[in-house]
Amino acid sequence: MNAKTIAIANQKGGVGKTTTCVNLGVGLAQVGKKVLLIDADPQGSLSISLGNQQPDKLPITLATIMGKMLTDTPIEQGEGILHHHEGVDLLPANIELSGMEVSLINAMSRETVLKQYLDTVKKQYDFILLDCMPSLGMLTINALAASDSVIIPVQAQYLPAKGLEQLLQTINKVRKQINPKLNIDGILLTMVDSRLNFAKDISTLLRDTYGRKLKVFRTDIPHSVRAAETSAEGKSIFAHDPKGKVADAYRELTKEVLKIEKLRQKHKSDIGR
Ligand SMILES: Nc1ncnc2c1ncn2[C@@H]1O[C@H](COP(=O)(O)OP(=O)(O)O)[C@@H](O)[C@H]1O
Ligand SMILES: [Mg+2]
Repeated sequence: MNAKTIAIANQKGGVGKTTTCVNLGVGLAQVGKKVLLIDADPQGSLSISLGNQQPDKLPITLATIMGKMLTDTPIEQGEGILHHHEGVDLLPANIELSGMEVSLINAMSRETVLKQYLDTVKKQYDFILLDCMPSLGMLTINALAASDSVIIPVQAQYLPAKGLEQLLQTINKVRKQINPKLNIDGILLTMVDSRLNFAKDISTLLRDTYGRKLKVFRTDIPHSVRAAETSAEGKSIFAHDPKGKVADAYRELTKEVLKIEKLRQKHKSDIGR
């Protein structure tokens, strides 16, 4: 195994990054994949969403691990990794991670600290998903530098054309300077209100604007209060409302992500021939 690593990124908050990380992660686990979720947001929303109500009380978090990487302190196998009963592993985060943003500024190889850590755990997983924070600072750069690809959740009603442009520029910069193999798997439309029938227009608009450069996932995530309830419950939509439309959508997204990975593998072996 050598995990496919996906950053779930958008510097805008509240677009469904964390929700997608939880539900895509559990979706992949449900089809038998070994999945590690990394909370790369000092707010610790992913950690909370997976049942750790008080992340500030967790003894070991991503900040601890990155701190050890920075000081060349050995990290034990599985150190800090929590297991969620729905079958995913989690490296949590809390407010301590905000200090890392500063520590990294003067560190050597500051963009690749997270990558160096992930390289040591990649063999144990099929997928690693990184829940990015809502900024394009050093932590998000670290996530992009460590990833094979990016999924960009976008809230359909508020198409942030300018924000998206900025994110794409950052991704391009990371590609040029640190991680040439970084792909954009696609834009994921989230919280789509079917009554407004916007999604199709937005998809068309995105396709017209970004052309063949940028894929938009065929699956949209519908808006549903059931999805908003899950984080307080500490479980995925599959446990909370398995027959609902949001669970269906995340099941479809999981299939799309698996298909992209399959094509990538095939492409790799074709090139190797
Ligand atoms: N499909 C959805 N329908 C309704 N509410 C949602 C949906 N997905 C996420 N939410 C809610 O929207 C808010 C922002 O989602 P979140 O995943 O935390 O975004 P981000 O991580 O980008 O800040 C949260 O309160 C979440 O529960
Ligand atoms: Mg979040």
